[in-house]
Amino acid sequence: EINQKVEALLQKMTLEEKIGQLNQYTGDWEVTGPVTNSGNKVEDVRQGKIGSMLNVRGVKHTRALQEAAMQSRLKIPLLFGQDVIHGYRVTFPIPLAEAASWDLDIIEKSARIAATEASASGIHWTFAPMVDVARDPRWGRVMEGAGEDTYLGCLIAKARVKGFQGKGLGNLDAVMACAKHFAAYGAAIGGRDYNSVDMGLRTLWEVYLPPFKAAVDAGAATFMNSFNDINGIPATGNSYIQRDILKGKWGFKGFVVSDWGSIGEMIQHGYVKDNYEAAEAAIKAGSDMDMESRSYINNLSKLVKEGKVKEDLINDAVKRILYKKFELGLFDNPYRFSDEKRERQTLNKPEFLDAARDVARKSIVLLKNENQLLPLSKELKSVALIGPLVKSEKDMQGFWSIDWGKEDHLISLFEGMKNQAGKTRLLYAKGCEISDTSRAGFTEALKAASEAEVVVMAMGEKYDMSGEAKSRANIHLPGVQEELIRAIQATGKPVVVLLMAGRPLVFNWTADHVPAIVYTWWLGSQAGNAIADVLYGNYNPSGKLPMTFPRSEGQIPIYYNYFNTGRPAQNDQDTHYRSGYIDMQKSPRFAFGYGLSYTTFEYGDLKLSADKMTGNEKISVSFTLRNTGKTAGEEVAQLYLRDMVAQPVRPVKELKAFQKVLLKPGESKTITFTIDKEKLSFYNDNLEWITQPGEFKIMIGGSSDGTKLEQSFSLVD
Ligand code: IFM
Repeated sequence: EINQKVEALLQKMTLEEKIGQLNQYTGDWEVTGPVTNSGNKVEDVRQGKIGSMLNVRGVKHTRALQEAAMQSRLKIPLLFGQDVIHGYRVTFPIPLAEAASWDLDIIEKSARIAATEASASGIHWTFAPMVDVARDPRWGRVMEGAGEDTYLGCLIAKARVKGFQGKGLGNLDAVMACAKHFAAYGAAIGGRDYNSVDMGLRTLWEVYLPPFKAAVDAGAATFMNSFNDINGIPATGNSYIQRDILKGKWGFKGFVVSDWGSIGEMIQHGYVKDNYEAAEAAIKAGSDMDMESRSYINNLSKLVKEGKVKEDLINDAVKRILYKKFELGLFDNPYRFSDEKRERQTLNKPEFLDAARDVARKSIVLLKNENQLLPLSKELKSVALIGPLVKSEKDMQGFWSIDWGKEDHLISLFEGMKNQAGKTRLLYAKGCEISDTSRAGFTEALKAASEAEVVVMAMGEKYDMSGEAKSRANIHLPGVQEELIRAIQATGKPVVVLLMAGRPLVFNWTADHVPAIVYTWWLGSQAGNAIADVLYGNYNPSGKLPMTFPRSEGQIPIYYNYFNTGRPAQNDQDTHYRSGYIDMQKSPRFAFGYGLSYTTFEYGDLKLSADKMTGNEKISVSFTLRNTGKTAGEEVAQLYLRDMVAQPVRPVKELKAFQKVLLKPGESKTITFTIDKEKLSFYNDNLEWITQPGEFKIMIGGSSDGTKLEQSFSLVD
């Protein structure tokens, strides 16, 4: 039925009106101001020259622009898009942090709340989730994704799409999801943002594309293409990626928006000569909407008239966009998302803040806890809070947060600790800035440490040190922070270091010497409360790293599912003509899947239902997980597989299943996973999805480098 409505509308549209639908401008919070040479944004909307706007938020502003759209000849409503990356009014942890929870339900819930708030505020469309697999922590955008693993990335992509789109487009609390950045943006050479990607097709299909496919399967309404070129062809002009794979093989029915200016940037890539050629390349390659290049609005009409681009190609793009506008119900009522009362009642609800706190504490990863220094006792007389992030709630909120100015109340570590410290006296010293090299604050910090029973240090990155265009060649703790940690540790006081960052950092001295380390990432609005929950043991940490932490930038790219090579090093010392480094261990500092708890877990009784299977059969793998400590806690039990002999070769291990389980002290549970043919399949060089008979090894445990149980089985013809 929608298709017929779309067709009927298309028949009435002039070529110019069609091209207008493919054109997206930023509003930058304003509804006036010059946009094209010929006028201003509102006037362009009235003339039907704009199909969508981004960066206009709030019922008041979006309504004003929608009213202008209703003055256009065909009254086609605008779509309002926004980067709702980790929350809208309430900020949730950055996506990489949420991935560390390995908890698909809360990840979906956080997207659901973000969509509920955004849709109440006039937004129809979020430019999320980012589903780029990322194996390089120098790349600042690792903060926006689900980390390095394809399997985990697929599940998280699905959860986020479901969360944003809720019960489906057309519901008042649903926004369109946008899987981005298509494709392989996370593999930018050297971790430098916007850089080229040089990648074999098998890796592309096996490692980088599956989370996008998962997003399509979950019903993602839109896709965004990426800034990078892939093997010499910019993604925006890449027919293989967008037409053959996405709209062809995968049958994607939604539309593709370019990234900001990425159509025009094909000129800088050296792929096309000018914007005329850029528009031609992009529309032919399947980019439906032009975000901020103005290549389409200024060139498509001429391209059609000169016979370079068939109008059918434009019709297809327009139809995809109109379809979504119908699906959202905007033709029935263009103001359905423009209710100021609903906006007031929905934003910043207490239950959303509670959910943000819960997601935040579940995203925290305990990296080290010698002598059970944590949790802190409430009986402590004094705790010194030291470091540049103790009172810096804005930094802990993280990049890609929406700024609500003074009306926002973000919880700093200091405030969160104060809320729970009871009679404990809290001392504070900043000690140093995040990036400066001044040591002037050390004296005051040492004094605070000397007066306290325990020191908690809040160290890390400023909010804009990870994110878009925030690649870093040096990912050590910035400035003199690690020097400050050394100085405080030298006092002999028990030290807990909290690391707040948008990416894996390098902090070797700290990892070697400080007894307790907690990786908090950037946790959003409720960061301080969530961290205090963990420090005081009101929540037992359960996060596991979704990315490998290197010892040095020299090890990057470093990831757990590498190939064995012909000369594998057996351990870090085994360097003689082996695949390792002569000046450094080859192992990571902290492995993918790693994370501690205040309790301990024991894995046992591994049983396979058979030791052979054919492609039509399944094997169930069961084992017991027991809480052997004194506190209730959650463990993420992980199953890895290795195909021992295959052509082409397979990784040393691949995550294939996991389950997060809550156990009381002494309690044990039997966990069962199922191995089917799909889990044993891979791409051959002809990009066929195949299995090969032979031996497979199963490894189970609480971390990729600490598997506890192993057993093999065979796949037979
Ligand atoms: O959605 C983003 C994208 O991820 C990076 N460039 C800008 C877009 C819109 O803000």
